[in-house]
Amino acid sequence: MFKSRLMDCAAQVQLHLDSVMEPMGDLPVVQAMRYASHGGKRLRAFLVMESARLHGIAPDQSVWPAAAIEAMHAYSLVHDDLPCMDNDDMRRGQPTVHIKWDYETAVLAGDALQALAFELAANEAVSPKAEVRATLALELARAAGAQGMVLGQALDMAADKSDTPFDLSQITALQEGKTGALFGWSAQAGARMAEADTSPWETYAKGIGLAFQIWDDVLDIEGDAAIVGKAVGKDQDAGKATFVSLLGMDTAKARAHELVEQSCAALDPFGAEADTLRDVARYMISRDK
Ligand code: IPE
Ligand code: IPE
Ligand code: MG
Ligand code: MG
Ligand code: MG
Repeated sequence: MFKSRLMDCAAQVQLHLDSVMEPMGDLPVVQAMRYASHGGKRLRAFLVMESARLHGIAPDQSVWPAAAIEAMHAYSLVHDDLPCMDNDDMRRGQPTVHIKWDYETAVLAGDALQALAFELAANEAVSPKAEVRATLALELARAAGAQGMVLGQALDMAADKSDTPFDLSQITALQEGKTGALFGWSAQAGARMAEADTSPWETYAKGIGLAFQIWDDVLDIEGDAAIVGKAVGKDQDAGKATFVSLLGMDTAKARAHELVEQSCAALDPFGAEADTLRDVARYMISRDK
């Protein structure tokens, strides 16, 4: 049920991204945008579309912010993989954009994917209410920028350069930005579209964001690169402080489970209708990629 819904959502979002980029022509930068926006688990898009469904929003509306967050996420990955950041050659089982094209194409494709994300979040098809569209775009800017994802990435770069490894509270702040901010926007999107209370979604997203990131750290150690689709062992080799290095593997996993159960409990008001969102939370800490 959950897996087939996730696959449906992924297919719908892919079609949508392909169709909005179809009229953009065939310059290398556009080819690179298409390439970078393919594949992936589509977890953020799923959070948008399922939270929207619970609030009675139709898929032909929610697919717009779902595609928006995947465009934003794709941009963050293209830039994250650049030599001046993580210097990675593989992403989603394929060569990274700067390997397949060049650095300048990767920078520009990332920039344009970020712009596209705002264009999609503010599109008229999202909601007949201009205020709803403006709020989604405003909150997306907050989630992506220097108080959100970029802050997390900047702290991550600072941690790499620091002589003393980051402690648990510093790592938590770093991850809340790097991973948590876009998860938070995604999980609150449905409530925002319906002009409903976002607070249960904020609580839900906080837990799954951290749990998801703990699992990313677990996969860096226990994962198989061929399945994960990106390099593994890099954090460990670099002596990077992660939830796993700070807590130990078993405690980190136990903490991830606790966080997921707290997230699931935040959805109590929605009853069994929210089961797909409980399932995706549990999937985040059992996945092998
Ligand atoms: C990878 O995110 C980047 C992190 C925030 C750790 P995902 O694991 O969701 O990547 P895709 O979209 O499925 O490739
Ligand atoms: C990247 O985090 C998160 C963002 C791009 C915002 P990581 O550097 O840990 O992600 P992976 O492991 O390369 O996917
Ligand atoms: Mg990184
Ligand atoms: Mg990286
Ligand atoms: Mg990682």
